[in-house]
Amino acid sequence: MAIIHGGQLSKVAKQFGIPEQEWLDLSTGIAPFSYTIPEIPEKIWQDLPTISPSLITAAQGYYQAEFCWPVAGSQQLIEKLPSLWNDKNSAIKSAQVKHAYLPKVGYKEHQRAWSLAGYQLHFYQGVLPDNIEKNSVVVVINPNNPLTDTFSIQQLTQLRKHCQQQQALLIIDEAFADIFPPEFSFIPHINNEYEDLIVLRSFGKFFGLAGIRIGFVCTTEIWRDIIKESIGPWSINGPALFIAEQALQDISWQILQKDRLQSQSEKMHQLLLTYFPTARIKTNALFVTVFMENAKQIYQRLCESAVYVRLTDEQDALRIGIAEPKQFIELKSILIISL
Ligand SMILES: Cc1ncc(COP(=O)(O)O)c(C=O)c1O
Repeated sequence: MAIIHGGQLSKVAKQFGIPEQEWLDLSTGIAPFSYTIPEIPEKIWQDLPTISPSLITAAQGYYQAEFCWPVAGSQQLIEKLPSLWNDKNSAIKSAQVKHAYLPKVGYKEHQRAWSLAGYQLHFYQGVLPDNIEKNSVVVVINPNNPLTDTFSIQQLTQLRKHCQQQQALLIIDEAFADIFPPEFSFIPHINNEYEDLIVLRSFGKFFGLAGIRIGFVCTTEIWRDIIKESIGPWSINGPALFIAEQALQDISWQILQKDRLQSQSEKMHQLLLTYFPTARIKTNALFVTVFMENAKQIYQRLCESAVYVRLTDEQDALRIGIAEPKQFIELKSILIISL
């Protein structure tokens, strides 16, 4: 099953017969402002990459984590977790049916990973599951992509309690959490009370550098060690480690980034409200999701005008990435003509 993601412009450009360079690409939730790549010493390119204590300290500070480790994008770990969980949990090996609980709507790679590993999938929506099988897996995407919905620390603490009772693995995907205040994250609540808890953090989205393929996992000591061992010494390239270490410590850039994403996303919300007054519009600082009955037709019309957004898997909404000021003007003028 090939999963459709945003960011596949060349395919869409070909489909609509419009050259790639003519498109306004708002198909991802990656920040349109990226962290400025610092000068990278030649040695970083020459040497094998090392995960330095200074990078770990920077990540611990930024993510408020006691135990964390870099990965080659959270996607790397999403793919690996089923086999790591099967190896760690001896009871799961003998289980006839293995169960995974996933959001009905959300980043589909979680679903794919657990389904490929032979798990029976159960879907929840809105309310977190409170009746789960022993040794199962629960995935929460917080905030949800594309719904923007969030769960509170209280709700997640309750869920952790259920997971603990059932010896289930709890995975919280906080790929888009950087845009919220630090209190939003469940990372500071990871403790020794329950070891099977993993929080995934993307680096590429908030820092606007999805191409360098780095992310972080924040978890308990035992899982940090399992993950560290499993990804091996050189999964993440040296330049990515170097850039991330600087970006994670660059507090003034992070403040600027939050402010400008917030302000652009408010503008986007207002603009889209003007054009889709009856639609349900849900906005966060990294994307806007517009639910409407004719999402598919509007998607088609926007593509014909060389505006690439993401039609959700359910085909009931368009997820639109945040436009930077120049793109915003372009979007506005295209909407006037094409809608
Ligand atoms: C919710 C969610 N989690 C994880 C990822 C994977 O991102 P990355 O591997 O760049 O960290 C994505 C990518 O779109 C996502 O939307």
